[in-house]
Amino acid sequence: MTEKLLLGQTLRFGADPFETAVDDAAIVSSRGAVLVQDGRIAAVGEADDLRARHPQAEVVDHGRHLITAGFVDAHMHYPQTAMIASWGLRLIDWLNTYTFPEEMRFADPDYARTIADRTLDLALAHGTTTLTSFCTIHPESVEAYFGAAAARNMAVVGGKTCMDRNAPDGLRDTVQAAYDQSKALLQKWQGTGRATYAITPRFSPTSTPDQLAALGALWAEHPDALMQTHLSEQVDEIAWVRDLFPQARDYLDTYEQFGLLGERGLYGHSIHLEPREIDRLAEVNGALIHCPTSNTFIGSGLFDTTGLKARGIRCGLATDTGGGSSFSMLRTMAAAYEVGQLRGTALHPAQLMWLATEGSAQALHMGGQIGSLSVGAMADITVLDLASTPAIAQREAEADTLWEALFPTIMMGDDRAVAQVYVAGEAARP
Ligand code: GUN
Ligand code: ZN
Repeated sequence: MTEKLLLGQTLRFGADPFETAVDDAAIVSSRGAVLVQDGRIAAVGEADDLRARHPQAEVVDHGRHLITAGFVDAHMHYPQTAMIASWGLRLIDWLNTYTFPEEMRFADPDYARTIADRTLDLALAHGTTTLTSFCTIHPESVEAYFGAAAARNMAVVGGKTCMDRNAPDGLRDTVQAAYDQSKALLQKWQGTGRATYAITPRFSPTSTPDQLAALGALWAEHPDALMQTHLSEQVDEIAWVRDLFPQARDYLDTYEQFGLLGERGLYGHSIHLEPREIDRLAEVNGALIHCPTSNTFIGSGLFDTTGLKARGIRCGLATDTGGGSSFSMLRTMAAAYEVGQLRGTALHPAQLMWLATEGSAQALHMGGQIGSLSVGAMADITVLDLASTPAIAQREAEADTLWEALFPTIMMGDDRAVAQVYVAGEAARP
């Protein structure tokens, strides 16, 4: 058995800080410890106590750095890594001009492997231990992604993006190919190592009703799989969906009609929801994924984190790379804070950290397994330097509480704040 004892400040959650007062939900220690045995968290407590009880464990002392669960990015597009920060366009033109041409390049398995490796390395450098990614229509892009994650022992979610209309030649599949290829990939990867498969219709405008129905049927055959898609991101998109699906009650209904609404469904963006859609999502317990840097970058709108959480709807947090403008979940938390302010609610640092870890993990139905500094969880852990730049350090020096010390890193931090990251207990950095 390998045993490691990580020492530092620790932050974990005993409850959801949107439901419980933050100082009851968050458990903080200024000199805490995390015991890792064979890749899992075996104990969490005070440094002196765990040291005395586990004298044989290898000690890694992170000093004043903050030990937290690794970040869980609940929605992104690894094939868009090389076109992040493309200027000037809103959703539909942005997809046609920048995204689809880049995704075409993934017909080449070598390119797919290069970008998968690059994306996962960038994720780890930013303290993100789990990605949930759309791949492209090419099965090779899914193989590249899960293969790269397996090489790093990372828990990832992904799936073949299915599109059979409103996409260029070379980037469309068919009803049958979407079903057959998704099924073969699901059967190969679901539960293999740390991989989880998500059936992935891109969004209603790029799938025919027949394709949506085929993917709904596949999900019914494999109810353990996740399903990821986009919902109500931009006003023009919603008008287009109304034209394409004149019988549908609303955007969500274009999924519901075809068996694509469920508890294991992940609905990215979900900004401009109608009351019926919110009621149905609450009823079926689907998860909404907040992508704040993308929603401001592409000009989509302001997600209602507080209102939707108050309805009991599960919410995760995500970069939405490359619609999103940063690989960093710190920057993503900052954007979530700013969006909250524009909606009139200041999200507490505990709520932001919870969304980036436990909230996203729960959205993926992996609560207690990842995104959590609790006994039994996998030791996917991020260590933050709360004084990583002179600007952050001078503000942190004035702090009286952990929240005051952490908030400058949330607002101004980036990969320089990530002192170390552990994947299943193994340090990802030398
Ligand atoms: N809607 C459909 N596809 C995409 C995508 O790739 N990015 C974003 N942000 N929205 C989408
Ligand atoms: Zn997306």
